[in-house]
Amino acid sequence: MDADRFRSLAETAPADLRQKLVTLPGIIAEWVRPHGGLAGRKIMDFGCGLGELAAGLAFAEPSARVIGVEVTDQPSGLPGVLERVGLAPPPNLSFREVALGEVGDEDGFDLIVSWSVFEHIQRNQFDAVMARLKTRLKPGGLLFMQVSPLFFSPEGSHFWALGYTDWQHLTRELSEVREDLDASALNARQRELHWKLFLRLNRFTAPDFERRLTAAGYSVLRRQIDRTDREPPAELLTAYDREALQTEQIVLLLRRD
Ligand SMILES: C[S@@+](CC[C@H](N)C(=O)[O-])C[C@H]1O[C@@H](n2cnc3c(N)ncnc32)[C@H](O)[C@@H]1O
Repeated sequence: MDADRFRSLAETAPADLRQKLVTLPGIIAEWVRPHGGLAGRKIMDFGCGLGELAAGLAFAEPSARVIGVEVTDQPSGLPGVLERVGLAPPPNLSFREVALGEVGDEDGFDLIVSWSVFEHIQRNQFDAVMARLKTRLKPGGLLFMQVSPLFFSPEGSHFWALGYTDWQHLTRELSEVREDLDASALNARQRELHWKLFLRLNRFTAPDFERRLTAAGYSVLRRQIDRTDREPPAELLTAYDREALQTEQIVLLLRRD
């Protein structure tokens, strides 16, 4: 499918799908452009979820080979999602399902992309996963990582379903958070999934991520840190660092040493 046809179909997609198919691949392309770009590259989307971003990268650069890596079977839902806007998965896209803590067997990647995933990798697995990812990159290969919302930021709980957008996960007792979840409109399965996801957030701050990645043998090429200017509740400022409470997003482009 040529680029114009893809763009005109993607334009008809709902905003969140359009963002993953068009906007995010555009951001990643812009970040890696000074370091060789996407053309002809072997790219891993680590923690790809349904695989919309991986598909967007594959559509954006037909000469690249994109492999989405996931611990769930979510990518099996991608054809149905794309079909709704008249698209089919591109031929240069494939997926691998891996066990938690694993990163797949393939190596020789030029670029590993990870969008909203690293906050979900548990502390006791994080360093090993970063070391494994490094072995999958070619020497000098690139790692693009984005995390938002960071745990200590206003929406860091990921409990949008509970309306937690103002640090409630830090101002309420854990038992109260659980009560809010049980009183929500979510069904029993969704509640357990949300609770498990919340309990497993690794709580790393922006400096924690950067420190761990540089310790794992990556050098930072570009960094973006986004902060809110919203004022945290006064009670939190006696217990937590203001910078951590106000930092919502970290984006890093790193090179394997
Ligand atoms: C918030 S979703 C983001 C999905 C996708 N990157 C996107 O932006 O649409 C987080 C994803 O990370 C995956 N994930 C969590 N821990 C992982 C791990 N240790 N290895 C690989 N994927 C993981 C989850 O299954 C989930 O699909």
